[in-house]
Amino acid sequence: MEIKNLCVIGAGIMGSGIAQLTASFGYNVNLVDISDQILKNVKKSIEINLERFFVAKNKLTKEEANKILHRIRLYTNKEEAVKDVQMVIEAVFEEMELKQQLFSELDNLCNNNVILASNTSSLSISDIALNSKFKERIIGIHFFNPAPVMKLIELIKGKKTSNEVVEKSKNFSESLNKTVVVVNDSPGFVTSRLIYVLCNEAIDLFKKGIASAEDIDKACKLAFNFPMGPIELSDLVGNDIYYHIGQYLEKELGQKYQPSILLQEMVESGLLGRKTGKGFYKY
Ligand SMILES: NC(=O)c1ccc[n+]([C@@H]2O[C@H](COP(=O)([O-])OP(=O)(O)OC[C@H]3O[C@@H](n4cnc5c(N)ncnc54)[C@H](O)[C@@H]3O)[C@@H](O)[C@H]2O)c1
Repeated sequence: MEIKNLCVIGAGIMGSGIAQLTASFGYNVNLVDISDQILKNVKKSIEINLERFFVAKNKLTKEEANKILHRIRLYTNKEEAVKDVQMVIEAVFEEMELKQQLFSELDNLCNNNVILASNTSSLSISDIALNSKFKERIIGIHFFNPAPVMKLIELIKGKKTSNEVVEKSKNFSESLNKTVVVVNDSPGFVTSRLIYVLCNEAIDLFKKGIASAEDIDKACKLAFNFPMGPIELSDLVGNDIYYHIGQYLEKELGQKYQPSILLQEMVESGLLGRKTGKGFYKY
């Protein structure tokens, strides 16, 4: 079954980026969230992004941008939104129970040849699929932020995901001009596990007074050619996000992944990084 129509559930940072990206490559996208107001705001921000980054830079004409916008339809009703789609991409909050419940609901709403994908950044795909009947069609399609710009897609093969679903998801991802890596299911996969460990270790070095945050970031940028240091990255992504990934990895994989006490203190004090105006740095 050729993929032409998609449903994206969750119109936050990732869902809106995935909708913009896929609509730009000709897919029809039914975008779902819990309120009309959220959806209207998101569509407006996609319109502004297309104007600012594409039309103003002569990468798209105004007419092409309008066509992209027309391919994105807004829904609060999942049942209507998944009619006639060949793939669903879930991008709701990073909560296991919410995702498990959503996937078992989708299992009943969608024909069993529809691919059900999660954009989770760390949760085990096999666990997300736990309550679903047709586990072979459930896969992780991990986009990075901002989805229209970042080159990589990490595909996560759950314990029961079929090879056919992996192959179709790979072709779909490549049709978006992305480079794909396929990894087996494990908490944090490859990318989130590695980046969490690096950032958490950097925060711990800072806590122990080995070096200042600025020097740790400077050292990583110049020694390893990183575009950004791990402490500034934690501030950018959100210290709460890394803290929750750390807690989850510790629970699933062992104490080695325990978040630094400083990361915990930062979260408890509301110092989440850029989004709160203060983290390890001030913004
Ligand atoms: N932000 C990132 O950098 C990033 C990168 C890669 C993957 N992810 C993953 O993508 C997912 C979404 O992250 P985000 O940063 O876009 O979150 P977000 O908080 O910006 O957006 C989540 C959206 O989901 C909606 N939502 C919640 N429950 C819903 C439901 N039952 N039905 C429909 N909509 C619902 C919310 O209203 C919200 O608009 C998470 O699993 C996250 O781990 C995030």
